[in-house]
Amino acid sequence: MFDLIIRKANLPDGRTGIDVGILGERIAAVEAGLEGTAGREIDAAGRLVCPPFIDSHVHLDSTLSLGLPRLNESGTLLEGISLWGELKPSLTQEVIYQRARKLCFWSMARGTLAIRSHVDICDDRLLAVDALVALREEMKPYLDIQLVAFPQDGYIRYGKSPENLLRALDKGVDVVGGIPHFEATMADGALSVAQLVRIAAERGLQVDMHCDESDDPLSRHIETLAAETVRHRMHGRVTGSHLTSMHSMDNYYVSKLIPLIAEAGVAAVANPLINITLQGRHDTYPKRRGMTRVKELMAAGVTVSFGHDCVMDPWYPMGSHDMLEVANMALHVGQMTGVEEIKSCFAAVTENAAKVLNLENYGIAPGKNADLIVLQAGDAIEAIRLHAERLFVIRRGKILAETAPRVAQVHLGGEAKSLDFTRANLDLV
Ligand code: FE2
Repeated sequence: MFDLIIRKANLPDGRTGIDVGILGERIAAVEAGLEGTAGREIDAAGRLVCPPFIDSHVHLDSTLSLGLPRLNESGTLLEGISLWGELKPSLTQEVIYQRARKLCFWSMARGTLAIRSHVDICDDRLLAVDALVALREEMKPYLDIQLVAFPQDGYIRYGKSPENLLRALDKGVDVVGGIPHFEATMADGALSVAQLVRIAAERGLQVDMHCDESDDPLSRHIETLAAETVRHRMHGRVTGSHLTSMHSMDNYYVSKLIPLIAEAGVAAVANPLINITLQGRHDTYPKRRGMTRVKELMAAGVTVSFGHDCVMDPWYPMGSHDMLEVANMALHVGQMTGVEEIKSCFAAVTENAAKVLNLENYGIAPGKNADLIVLQAGDAIEAIRLHAERLFVIRRGKILAETAPRVAQVHLGGEAKSLDFTRANLDLV
């Protein structure tokens, strides 16, 4: 009656012992004690089954380029940008394509089946755009890629950006990006935000802007982004990425700003792995953490998701594209260790990110896409704590990736004991 049934699943909403029946590419039933048979059954045995992870902010065009042409010695955003500028002339479409493609395989293995990638449009050849548009098409059966036209060298500061941005959108890039804090003046930053939101509104596209990725407490382009969102009635279609200056802003100003962001329906994407390393580099001690005010934004009702941002590139030498690592870092940097706070960090790499990307048919309910992960963990908190293995990754009803459970052998007096770190198996057996 079904093509696949996953039995005895724990769900992110707290339900336990749930069976998920899949027919074709869709979820057909979600209930305890589901009657019926299937071509294949997976016994989740009390493990967490959740919809796939989503990376709502990454750069597929620079990924896996670490060390080319040299390493980032200062560790700053600005050296990363100039290093990327040195690398750009030597890039080819094929090289960008192959590196990004490899990262997609890493993503699938990690259960990340939707990615929003920024693509630099300041190389006049638009090689990265062509590479990633082709990759988006090749990957469609396996994972969803959204592309953001990102003027890395500034929309106004780099003279050809306006022309290149429109060319990129005409080539099929999905979302309008920006980088107002990198423009030459605050006024140019505000002007770039106004112009870019207008372009998106006219074309019926979403906006996702690098915004205020700075330690400067006076970098307030998010204010303009919220105002332009309201002006163009873009509620729910605009995202501010990074927003790290909010960490350094005056508290009184933030008490006005966060309600403005919420009223405008602007979403926020924090990138904890990257901003805990890039920000605060000009500080001695104490050093600012530099992640935006995740807890306070969430409390105000703003949709907040987390991105990986970089994987082994001019800005970040680490990473394996694991969204559980991102959630783990976020809860540390944001001091979000309460039970509900940890769960909200899990939501930030799953359901909140689905809202940011405006994905359809995401979730575990009849009629939704049969896109699911079985984790080696009992619940979301354990999954984050352990960076739990993704035992099965399912895409549209078919198994896309499998990983064996992680079990250590501990040798005591010549006798081997099996140990895994999940709550049910804390004792040696
Ligand atoms: Fe970024």
